[in-house]
Amino acid sequence: MEIVANLPSPEECASQILDYSGHKFEPDIAGDLWLKILQHKWFLSEKLGRDVGIKVACLDFLENTDTVRQELREEEIARLLRDLGAQMVDRSVWDTISDSQPPKRIVAKRIILPLTETDLAQKHGVIPPRTIIFFGPPGTGKTYFVRAIASVLQWWYIEVSPSDLMADGQDRLGRNLKLLMEGAAGLDEAVIFIDEFEEIAGNRDQASRIDKSITNEFLKQVPLLKRRAGKILLVCATNYIRDLDAALLRPGRFDCIIPVGGLDVQGRRTIFDYYLSKTNSGKVDTDKIVSLIPLFTPADIEYLFQKVSQVAFERELVRGEDYRLTTDIFLELLPKVRPSLSEEIIKEFELDCIDYTRY
Ligand SMILES: Nc1ncnc2c1ncn2[C@@H]1O[C@H](COP(=O)(O)OP(=O)(O)OP(=O)(O)O)[C@@H](O)[C@H]1O
Ligand SMILES: [Mg+2]
Repeated sequence: MEIVANLPSPEECASQILDYSGHKFEPDIAGDLWLKILQHKWFLSEKLGRDVGIKVACLDFLENTDTVRQELREEEIARLLRDLGAQMVDRSVWDTISDSQPPKRIVAKRIILPLTETDLAQKHGVIPPRTIIFFGPPGTGKTYFVRAIASVLQWWYIEVSPSDLMADGQDRLGRNLKLLMEGAAGLDEAVIFIDEFEEIAGNRDQASRIDKSITNEFLKQVPLLKRRAGKILLVCATNYIRDLDAALLRPGRFDCIIPVGGLDVQGRRTIFDYYLSKTNSGKVDTDKIVSLIPLFTPADIEYLFQKVSQVAFERELVRGEDYRLTTDIFLELLPKVRPSLSEEIIKEFELDCIDYTRY
């Protein structure tokens, strides 16, 4: 069977298919598709006993062949996931957060449950949030929470930093943001996470012309995202909620603005136990150590364990016998880890909580 003599370029194929059917495909996919359409034209002509046109073959192929449509959709989604660097986060991440670690309860009640108990939410007119900001001091677990949300929902997790969006120049940021949001709209269930949000959504009065255009692009994209059918959650995180553009913080743009602050005793203990379970531990008085680190963030606890584990490793190497962590080694190394929080930082954060929290 001779199908083609001169095959059009992939770009030409994409443009022809778009012309005939209104469906837009990437050139590499369109090139393969074109061959299949030509093949289909031949089959269809044989079946009907007359020569059918390429446009008819194209429409028939795309619109009546369910498996083809399915395959194309899967191909498109696989490409999107690859381009966006999407990950599936292990379910266990959510469980490593203590119920008392702020803001686990808020997140469960306000974000997770309305998305999982959809019928009940609908019955009571609860609209699941689509756009969320987490704010709080460094190392308090903002990124960890976003991963945990993706993990418990089992949605794709797509992390974007301002530097990714500016990889091909700062003036491309607005355009890349638009492409990201449009691309993510093609996925059914995804959490898009933009870290260091103040870098792209800083106060417009103080910012340069480029920054203003980015905030404007963002203001355009948020309502579009909300209107789309797919289950897409946009989460942004910042250490500097005060620096964000006031226009973005108005109700209607972000559905929830959630603080992520310091840990209580239970929160510290859960994280401490989590890291302890990954070590070669002996008898450790967890309560005692946890009571000595009131101003530690999750990041500080993780760092303490890095230090302790390194020392344990070195000691076993020197002594040549099993070395188990005890309370003493923690007490020895605690003075070497400075807490990230201070009374002053906590006071400022509490003021931010009053001024900005909304859920
Ligand atoms: N519940 C938890 N259990 C175990 N580890 C945790 C938990 N919460 C946070 N961590 C760890 O603490 C560190 C800091 O958390 P994370 O990166 O989420 O903080 P952050 O608020 O996003 O910080 P930054 O403002 O610097 O971006 C991470 O390495 C993370 O894995
Ligand atoms: Mg972070």
